[in-house]
Amino acid sequence: MPSPFLWGVASSAFQVEGALAEDGRGPSVWDVFSARPGAVRDDHSPATACDHYHRWAEDVDLLDRLGVHAYRFSVSWPRVVPRGRGAVNKAGLDFYDRLVDALVARGIEPVPTLFHWDLPQALEEAGGWSSRETAAAFADYAAAVADRLGDRVRRWITLNEPVVHTAYGHAFGVHAPGRTLEVPDVLMVAHHQLLAHGLAAGELRSRGLEVLLTNNYSPVSPATGTEADAAAARAYDALHNRLFTDPVLTGAYPDLSAFGADGVDAVREGDLATIAGSVDGLGVNYYNPTRIAAPPQGSALPFDFAEITQVPTTAFGWPVVPEGLERLLLLLGERYGEALVPMYVTENGCSQEDAVAPDGRVADPERIAYLAGHVRAVDRARERGADVRGYFVWTLTDNFEWAEGYHQRFGLVHVDHATQRRRPKDSFEWYRSLIADRTASS
Ligand code: NOJ
Repeated sequence: MPSPFLWGVASSAFQVEGALAEDGRGPSVWDVFSARPGAVRDDHSPATACDHYHRWAEDVDLLDRLGVHAYRFSVSWPRVVPRGRGAVNKAGLDFYDRLVDALVARGIEPVPTLFHWDLPQALEEAGGWSSRETAAAFADYAAAVADRLGDRVRRWITLNEPVVHTAYGHAFGVHAPGRTLEVPDVLMVAHHQLLAHGLAAGELRSRGLEVLLTNNYSPVSPATGTEADAAAARAYDALHNRLFTDPVLTGAYPDLSAFGADGVDAVREGDLATIAGSVDGLGVNYYNPTRIAAPPQGSALPFDFAEITQVPTTAFGWPVVPEGLERLLLLLGERYGEALVPMYVTENGCSQEDAVAPDGRVADPERIAYLAGHVRAVDRARERGADVRGYFVWTLTDNFEWAEGYHQRFGLVHVDHATQRRRPKDSFEWYRSLIADRTASS
């Protein structure tokens, strides 16, 4: 019998846990990067985040109230392997063991992500994702976590949004580790992440587990009908949507000639065979579509971003276009055909300027409209044949939004970052009743 559609929420370790120096956790690239003055808006500190490391039981109670079928969280690599490779920290694994037990006891499927951007700093100092060794270290770490949790966890996500980690962290320098590499070196960083995924997938599958790879996807439109804009849109699409997906589903890198690359130098014999066919599910994170124009004279990039107008925007300024999700899910089906695996929307959500009213209520009608529109888009895509098996809202609690610090609130639950008080927003109640209705009728 096919599994029922999964309704869930997603989070990540660095954004919620805090407790950065507790129980033997080693530093990550984000600990170091976020301490640089100016790296994070208003120099917000991730030291406590949502204090989830201590308040996890309260957060599991919230998940239970929400009625989700699945909870996507991430395992902190530096908590489990403080120096990135070598000694495994038992206390780190104990934390996720307790969390998994508590979820399973409530009938909530744990869906861990093994890497959500918090690379152990010791590995960064040894070359980070520029080093092939990091891929091997990731596979060892994945095996250690799978040995501990694999008896209760069936579906595993290896990497989260490698395209964002690569572009923001290694090309634009606005996320950790804050590097600004040239194209061939950026592609090396990309390839080593894919290799890490492929090697970890081997470890997981040899234990009978299912493997997902989650990326950020965005349907791309050219700004105008000119051939120059169309070419720029194709270049952007190759980077954003294909770089981390074509190798996994088709065994080959997309055409990257617009970036001056005639292939990916870091590829060694056998790598593409390790990467190809290494997923049982594709994790699709969707927030908004992208409009692309030809680059201005002298630009280092083969594209330029064009504004999407006449639609609402979120507090982040991102355009709200639910139809983009329908289009995207159908596009992935058309593009990959038989090679495509079942899809899961592993993140979707929006930041809004949520405020607590004097009576304690947090009204967030824009978030409800956003989520309702995107759920309808998933429904329409499924009606038109897209094989989508789950939908996860980003996120449970307002949390540390990377370079934006605590400025962007994405949660279904409001967090007062001074007191850690959690208050379910109206959207929490809305999602609770959607899940209840959908579960009753399936
Ligand atoms: C994608 C990332 O995976 C997550 O960490 C982030 O908070 C959300 N998008 C919102 O930007």
